[in-house]
Amino acid sequence: MDTGDERGASFTLGSAFRPDTVADEAVARMVTVLDAQDAAPAIERLRAWMLAAGDVRRGEVCVDLGSGTGTMTRRLASLTGPDGRAIGVEPNPGLRQVAEGRAEGAGSSAEFRPGLATELPFEDGSVDVLWCERVLQHVPEPQAAVDEIARVLRPGGRALLLDSDHDTRVQSDVDPDVARAITRAFMGQVANPMAARHLLRQAITAGLAVDPDIGSSALVFGPEQLAGSDLFTMAAEQAVVDGLVTREQADEAMAAMDEAAREGWAFAAVTVFGFVCRKDR
Ligand SMILES: C[S@@+](CC[C@H](N)C(=O)[O-])C[C@H]1O[C@@H](n2cnc3c(N)ncnc32)[C@H](O)[C@@H]1O
Repeated sequence: MDTGDERGASFTLGSAFRPDTVADEAVARMVTVLDAQDAAPAIERLRAWMLAAGDVRRGEVCVDLGSGTGTMTRRLASLTGPDGRAIGVEPNPGLRQVAEGRAEGAGSSAEFRPGLATELPFEDGSVDVLWCERVLQHVPEPQAAVDEIARVLRPGGRALLLDSDHDTRVQSDVDPDVARAITRAFMGQVANPMAARHLLRQAITAGLAVDPDIGSSALVFGPEQLAGSDLFTMAAEQAVVDGLVTREQADEAMAAMDEAAREGWAFAAVTVFGFVCRKDR
């Protein structure tokens, strides 16, 4: 979907976080979104809990699948130390370049290479810890990706899988039926929008054991993130295109969100779940 303005012309809901979205402007928008999510305290709480559960040790080989800007690859590199390795696998060349630049700037030993979740560039049983955060929602064949994750883990290895379920979205200040229709339009633009609810089945099918304690955190967008953000606007416009809401309903919803953001009480959220998966020794 074209957003119609010059700033967003190459960034659409359907093109976000795809390996082939390479226009500079679109890459810059993806980096902005990822930086905002990195800064969310609730995401940090879930990440810290997952890292502790995964017990990343010095000297281990860690992979950050779908590494984006490389934040977690650098973190894994600091945990695994100079005797270990942390490798970010990122198919989008623009994001990979950003990750490489940030790692160099931070003096991190994190490495990056191209690759797809369904075709990981690693030997069978060669990885101690595999981190995969908010990636499978963008993968059309998630079971193939989880099978591939299980393949590369060594016996005793851990897969730390974090993903969203966009059907848990909440949205303030908009009629709930209209908000649900706008969420549906958004989900229609994402390959696997309810990724999290399928992960337990996919991990078990791939032969992994999953810890019974499944983590969760809401990724919350407050007035600061929502003011001036066109993500809601893009989804509302898509809902009109899809015939899920009328032009009037979309305009009313966008005006309500604008006003709520200006007043300081706009609130939107989506749940992210974290699964600690283990390959038998
Ligand atoms: C929402 S971003 C998450 C980035 C990072 N994991 C984080 O949590 O900050 C999704 C990432 O998955 C990558 N991605 C999309 N499709 C992929 C695929 N088929 N295989 C591997 N990575 C993919 C995107 O390029 C992007 O970096």
